Amino acid sequence: MIRLVPNINFPTGFSQVYSFEETALVRKLHEMIPGYQPTPLVSLDDLARKLGVKQILVKDESKRFGLNSFKGLGGTYAMFRIICRELELDPGTATLNDIMSHSDKISRMEFITTTDGNHGKGVSWAAKVFGCRAHVYMPKGSKPVRAQAIRDAGCADVEITNLSYDDCVRMTARLASDMGYHLIQDTAWKDYEEIPTWIMQGYTTLFYESVDQMHQSGIDAPTHIFLQAGVGSMAGAIAAAAQSAFEKLPIISLVEPDAAACFFESFMTGDDEAHPATGNAKTIMAGLNCGEVCSTAWDILTTLARFSISCSDDITIEGMRTLAHPQGNDPVIISGESGAVCAGLLKVVLEDLRYVHIRQQLELGADSVIMLINTEGDTDPDNYKKIISVA
Ligand SMILES: Cc1ncc(COP(=O)(O)O)c(C=O)c1O
Repeated sequence: MIRLVPNINFPTGFSQVYSFEETALVRKLHEMIPGYQPTPLVSLDDLARKLGVKQILVKDESKRFGLNSFKGLGGTYAMFRIICRELELDPGTATLNDIMSHSDKISRMEFITTTDGNHGKGVSWAAKVFGCRAHVYMPKGSKPVRAQAIRDAGCADVEITNLSYDDCVRMTARLASDMGYHLIQDTAWKDYEEIPTWIMQGYTTLFYESVDQMHQSGIDAPTHIFLQAGVGSMAGAIAAAAQSAFEKLPIISLVEPDAAACFFESFMTGDDEAHPATGNAKTIMAGLNCGEVCSTAWDILTTLARFSISCSDDITIEGMRTLAHPQGNDPVIISGESGAVCAGLLKVVLEDLRYVHIRQQLELGADSVIMLINTEGDTDPDNYKKIISVA
């Protein structure tokens, strides 16, 4: 089941949030990290032909830093900025070597966060990169395999709590102030916006790599970008970067699980206010299972997103299978539950006659150049295998 709602407040103006200098700094940090490589931007030409669109480009973040998702981009950049602040180093000129020369002080720094998997893994890994420690908490229902992946990725202790994602975030924020830990959370709220903004800026590396890769292939800009949203930080970061990169803003759509559709439900009310999701939070899209929006992402996305789309789990299952069993000569893309939903949505909307009205609203057609982000690989390997074993 797919439902679409237009953002009736679009366009409300410009939200040029990330300056060239800021995003250049982000990329410089990532390029300093050992093992850094741009992830591939894959063109699924045979799928595009089959679905009747010009091009489908998939930025494959399953290949990011060996972490199986894009999330390490945000955790590393925010941790770098916090460390620079604590050591009174200029982030504009500090190198990893400068930072490492303070390893004694850094080893005493402790970070804390809530995660449904990928962000915590990124933070754990970032703690290993910089030589400090992290405490990671997960909401109820989190799979032990995801908790173990966080421990294995770096330097973190991990606990699965009995709390919902949003309550777990509140608990870690309290713990941070009680214990003197650095809260490194990938969602913002009033009075806690600077660090989440660094995290969001961290994500822009994947976007600017894509722009370079498009230009190398002779593509000026996509006509459409589909972005998964949990709290919306990733989508907000990419939308803000797209606004500064392209003369004409592509049609940006947010995509959420129907069980935790905070943007979709907020756009439905049309009152320009963010509302918590009312769904039952039961979805296989663990990374998108968030009921409350990130405040800074909300400000950007109410300005830049044209549509919000909610999808049931069968849509992401369709996407996982489509990418695992490609058409013709297209390469295989390993895409997990939160990574594949936009691919599934695209396929279903373009093939299933019940969704012709959505295809028309989205202005999808023969000239469309569509950008998707495979935000994670097989982060739950057993479930992935089970799902893709059916073609
Ligand atoms: C794989 C994956 N995709 C997308 C998202 C959505 O990111 P955000 O919560 O910033 O909207 C997440 C968040 O954890 C994720 O893990």
